[in-house]
Amino acid sequence: MSRTFNNLLVTGGCGFIGVNFIRYLLRETPFAGRVINLDALTYAGYAGSLEDVSREFGNRYIFEHADIRNPARIAEIMDKYEVDGICHFAAESHVDRSIVAPDDFIQTNIIGSYNLLQAARERQERLVLFHHVSTDEVFGSLGETGYFVETTPYDPRSPYSASKAASDHLVRAFHETYGLPVTITNCSNNYGPYQFPEKLVPLMILNALEGKPLPVYGDGRNVRDWLHVRDHASAVWAVMERGRAGGTYCVGGRNELRNLEVVEQLCRLVDEQAAPLPSGAPRESLITFVKDRPGHDHRYAIDCALLEAELGWSQSETAVSGFAKTVAWYLENMEWVNAVRSGAYRNWIEHNYAQR
Ligand code: NAD
Ligand code: TYD
Repeated sequence: MSRTFNNLLVTGGCGFIGVNFIRYLLRETPFAGRVINLDALTYAGYAGSLEDVSREFGNRYIFEHADIRNPARIAEIMDKYEVDGICHFAAESHVDRSIVAPDDFIQTNIIGSYNLLQAARERQERLVLFHHVSTDEVFGSLGETGYFVETTPYDPRSPYSASKAASDHLVRAFHETYGLPVTITNCSNNYGPYQFPEKLVPLMILNALEGKPLPVYGDGRNVRDWLHVRDHASAVWAVMERGRAGGTYCVGGRNELRNLEVVEQLCRLVDEQAAPLPSGAPRESLITFVKDRPGHDHRYAIDCALLEAELGWSQSETAVSGFAKTVAWYLENMEWVNAVRSGAYRNWIEHNYAQR
């Protein structure tokens, strides 16, 4: 069985993973339908990231500036394009922001997801699948050993992960209660092109390039499992095409690293690929240990054996190859960096770091 979609609604398609997913879908798969990208263009969304796709694919790529907090706009868009599939990325996604200002996380991640589910349910006869993109952070924090799997009990610890957990529960409830055809993926930390430079990897690359301090939270020993965003996109599409209805799949990179190791690797790569700092010092000398994030989850690690066995998915990048390509991408795309850094984000980051 392989599902096909004529009119696929992608929410949050102007954000980091959405942009990479749309690129992957249109350029690297046989998908022949239309993509309707619904995005509110918050600080994290930049429509310019898909300008070339829009030129290349003409009316197979449609952008709708809309907010999932607005049920009337969702209904209008779903009817206008006879949407038969949904891939739901739109969310507030940054843990640090959720600590300072949780409200938008509740409104978008919980209420917005609910609005989308209701609109899908009201048009269920046309709907092939509602795919929900979620995070491994819903499972909480691991000690030095063990892995998250599909059956790990939920234990979210930040306002971000709690809001994502709530949306996962709603998606499953709509499947059990109303028979809505759904799938869910819970993925580990992504890195790659088009990631907004507030997240660890792009922030460190750009600060290292510019000779600014590299703020490592706490002692830098927290562990994350890193997955290249294209590998996440291929996993989402494998699940959308062939995943069990009602099924959940964990997606991971089998690339566990301590934060300090990530930052050190990125420093070495920037030293190799960019001009030296005026002082001649290696970029590692910019590492600055700062106050820890409140409730900082110690370790995330995913066992993605189910996805590998059931759908034959595997990742194509290791952290070594993926980080090198990512550093190269940022160095070559400073115009994009400057575009997304302007405006609201700059105010946020200046305020945030002024307080540390
Ligand atoms: P992002 O913050 O880069 O992008 C989010 C996008 O959603 C932006 O384009 C933004 O404009 C849009 N958006 C926000 N609120 C909206 C609203 N109310 N209505 C419509 N659009 C809205 O996030 P990302 O890193 O691309 O993450 C995408 C999804 O993947 C999220 O659901 C996130 O929880 C999940 N996820 C992310 C990671 C990661 O490492 N980044 C890992 C696992 C899962
Ligand atoms: P982040 O990219 O925010 O992803 P998440 O919190 O969803 O895992 O952070 C990744 C890790 O890096 C996390 O353990 C927090 C840490 N971190 C820093 O040490 N310094 C930073 O400036 C940032 C943004 C994150």
